Amino acid sequence: MLSKNMLSPDTYEGQVVLITGGGTGLGKSMTEHYLSLGAKVIITSRKQDVLDETAKALDPSGENIFAISGDVRKADDVDRVVAASVAHFGKIDVLINNAAGNFVMPTERLSSRAFESIIGIVLQGSINYCLAVGKYWIKEGIKGNILNIITTYAFTGTAFTVPSACAKAGVLALTRSLAVEWGKKYGIRINAVAPGPFPTEGAWQRLIPPAFADLADPAKQIPLGRVGEHIELTNLCTYLTSPYAAYINGADIVIDGGEWLMGAGQFNQYLAIPEQMWDMLEQMRGK
Ligand code: HXC
Ligand code: NAP
Repeated sequence: MLSKNMLSPDTYEGQVVLITGGGTGLGKSMTEHYLSLGAKVIITSRKQDVLDETAKALDPSGENIFAISGDVRKADDVDRVVAASVAHFGKIDVLINNAAGNFVMPTERLSSRAFESIIGIVLQGSINYCLAVGKYWIKEGIKGNILNIITTYAFTGTAFTVPSACAKAGVLALTRSLAVEWGKKYGIRINAVAPGPFPTEGAWQRLIPPAFADLADPAKQIPLGRVGEHIELTNLCTYLTSPYAAYINGADIVIDGGEWLMGAGQFNQYLAIPEQMWDMLEQMRGK
């Protein structure tokens, strides 16, 4: 496996990238990767202390990251973050809707407010940022581009994280709809990436409680037998939002080692059949 940047270090020179949830997990890895390609990066989430810590760790000079708190669910916060970001770096070229909320629980145990919380962060939050940044681009005539981080269960649905599945499916519909509407009218591209399991504290803590660890070991469900490396995902994201991907619009790219297909194929469970049993079957066929 290659663990280095795919693009040249000047790919994002002069470009400004806004990443929601950019202070932790995959958002933090994306922030680090975009910085290494010459971008200025705005990171935003609810916790200013977490954002400041990330900014200090990744950009000791303080010149290349703007860390600003805001709740993606609140349109006023989003407008304030976008206005302050444009004032700080002069513009925004790329938006990454990465912030999310999630937990595992049987659906019949959830309250309406539990759904509201997850749909608010994932779907309404992505809508709020698309509207605020999109209106700014349209007004200024900027042909920016958007990347939405979804999951493979946006296509399949999934038991036990139903609010997230509903919200991510909505973000996929948002992606495909705006790719046509804003692509045609304004030359704004919008794509989605659907990662399989990429270990982060935020996701693992909420989705794989220690008591379920063996049952839910993600590597067991993946044909390639391992979870993803953050750099594999960030290489894909930095490519999709770069000029090299100028003809990719409305796509949803899966990066999961084949995981979702493993659950889909009619006879995939035969993977558990040992070679000796196949030998026996073949011998019987020959008679
Ligand atoms: C059931 C829950 C719950 C839980 C909260 N609620 N946690 N219900 N099980 N574990 C309910 C509450 O009881 C409440 O309803 C409602 O949800 C809102 O709860 P709050 O605590 O007020 O929510 P809030 O402060 O908005 O916090 C949001 C959060 C929290 C989602 C609950 O976990 C959070 O801040 N998460 C952010 C980071 C995160 O989740 N990262 C993981 C992304 S991983 P009532 O009715 O009681 O008022 C991911 C990966 C996908 O997406 C794919 C992996 C392979
Ligand atoms: P994470 O570290 O928990 O990231 C979630 C981020 O969202 C946090 O930085 C959090 O910061 C921010 N956030 C949550 N609620 C917010 C709100 N209301 N307003 C603003 N920001 C908010 O988890 P992750 O694993 O890196 O997930 C990143 C993205 O990848 C998510 O979209 C997730 O669905 C997706 N994904 C992850 C995996 C995986 O295996 N890790 C797989 C598929 C998809 P604050 O708490 O400071 O607000």
